[in-house]
Amino acid sequence: MLPTVNPTQTKAWQALQHHYDTEVKQQHMRALFAADPKRFEKFSRSYGEILFDFSKNIITEKTWQLLLDLAAQCELPEAIKAMFSGELINRTEGRAVLHTALRNFGTQPVITEGKDVMPEVRAVLARMKSFAEKIHSGDWKGYTGKPIRYIVNIGIGGSDLGPLMVTEALKPYWIEGIQAFFVSNVDGTHITETLKHVDPEQTLFLIASKTFTTQETMTNALTARTWFLGAAVEESHVAKHFVALSTNEKEVVKFGIDKNNMFGFWDWVGGRYSLWSAIGMSIVLTIGYDNFESLLKGAHDMDNHFQRSAPDQNIPVLMAITGIWYTNFFGTQSEAILPYDQYMHRFAAYFQQGNMESNGKSVDRNGENVNYATGPIIWGEPGTNGQHAFYQLIHQGTPVIPCDFIAPAVSHNPTGDHHRKLLSNFFAQTEALMNGKSEEEARKELLDAGMDREKADKLVPFKMFSGNRPTNSILVKEITPFTLGQLIAAYEHKIFVQGIIWNIFSFDQWGVELGKQLANRILPELESDEPVSSHDSSTNGLINAYKQFRR
Ligand code: F6P
Repeated sequence: MLPTVNPTQTKAWQALQHHYDTEVKQQHMRALFAADPKRFEKFSRSYGEILFDFSKNIITEKTWQLLLDLAAQCELPEAIKAMFSGELINRTEGRAVLHTALRNFGTQPVITEGKDVMPEVRAVLARMKSFAEKIHSGDWKGYTGKPIRYIVNIGIGGSDLGPLMVTEALKPYWIEGIQAFFVSNVDGTHITETLKHVDPEQTLFLIASKTFTTQETMTNALTARTWFLGAAVEESHVAKHFVALSTNEKEVVKFGIDKNNMFGFWDWVGGRYSLWSAIGMSIVLTIGYDNFESLLKGAHDMDNHFQRSAPDQNIPVLMAITGIWYTNFFGTQSEAILPYDQYMHRFAAYFQQGNMESNGKSVDRNGENVNYATGPIIWGEPGTNGQHAFYQLIHQGTPVIPCDFIAPAVSHNPTGDHHRKLLSNFFAQTEALMNGKSEEEARKELLDAGMDREKADKLVPFKMFSGNRPTNSILVKEITPFTLGQLIAAYEHKIFVQGIIWNIFSFDQWGVELGKQLANRILPELESDEPVSSHDSSTNGLINAYKQFRR
């Protein structure tokens, strides 16, 4: 059972509130750095080939200690144990949460509901490996005898974003001759545009859906099937070109996919935590099984660190408590993830789901409405593109937005001086956000540039930067399958720790249901041109206007 502690009722929360009001609120990071030459050493942690620098946060040693007290008083160690040991911690769905078992290379069994899940996990991995080998060697042939060259993953949410993010992040590892595409949106444009780039004779469709009932995925899958049969004609050819990645054998068979072409997983794998499961088949086919295994091993390594390290050395815990500090005591509402790595361009989008679907909750584990903030809004784009778009607000806007800056020290594309330029921006931004530019500095700069005093005085307010804007810097030696696995797992566990402290259930997603239900009710109403009157006036008005426009 997970603990059910209201965090605001803990001693640590009261102490944090007092600490914030009396010691931190007026504090500027410039002063913290000036007062302590060892600040970087104290507030950064090296882990393998990743350096996590937390020092540019508005924290002191006391802040971290109190936040760690908060985690302890919310019974975090018990919660970690409960998750890894297969307890049914996803209580509203009556399920265990064991994505960590999917990447478990230890020798111990992982038992949930009296059963060791590891033999089945290993069996599916072995099948994925041998299937990928057949595809890559050309032994698996399409209906005209040609090898497979195009992989089209059809899925949405967790059945899309994880594999998409990882295959993009690991593009330098792509197997020659294989091209991967991802179709998620039910907007017919997505599948239509994708099918223009592939050839039915050499395309393998992966229908990725945990439930195998998701409207978007089933619609796209049927369209792909119709398109394929338009060329292949014979129903029997489907078996060579359609594979299912799912937990729902009954629906897979009903759809017309042979169960021999199904790679299964289990209800204890949450959709947004499923890239490590059979849902990762597109990753295996794109970068090869060995690289996929390195990804899993990186995540397993972070799982061990998370389970075993002391809280003040525990990277996911430190990431989590630092986020809680801003959300609950500074009142920040969003966090940006800013990778200085073009290949990682979907990393923020991936953790948008990871974080917001997990911790976007307002009822606690006792079934009571919470009276404190929970999950922040997560957003972000790759590095310097963001600088020329939205960083203005991060530097000088009214909201404080804690940011994670992520960069590899070594580029996969060491072209000219691109990478040095990229990294000079990575270092400069966090320095600027921390230091800001004072009134005196802004004035001096203008006067030094030859501006007269009166003009300079008028311009100074606009040229000042308050600074004191918090950032984490995550410097990775190189983005490899292993380090990417470590990074993803660190973020996953951050989300878990925060959910535990906020006393919410992080592994259900009931909030997505209502819209789905209503869409299902509206769909048949769109068939005829008859006006509708069964909704509120706005929804009626919109539907009826649509019916007019489409005539
Ligand atoms: O509607 C939300 C959701 O259930 C996500 O949690 C999930 O990742 C996505 O839909 C896709 O679900 P499925 O894999 O069952 O198609």
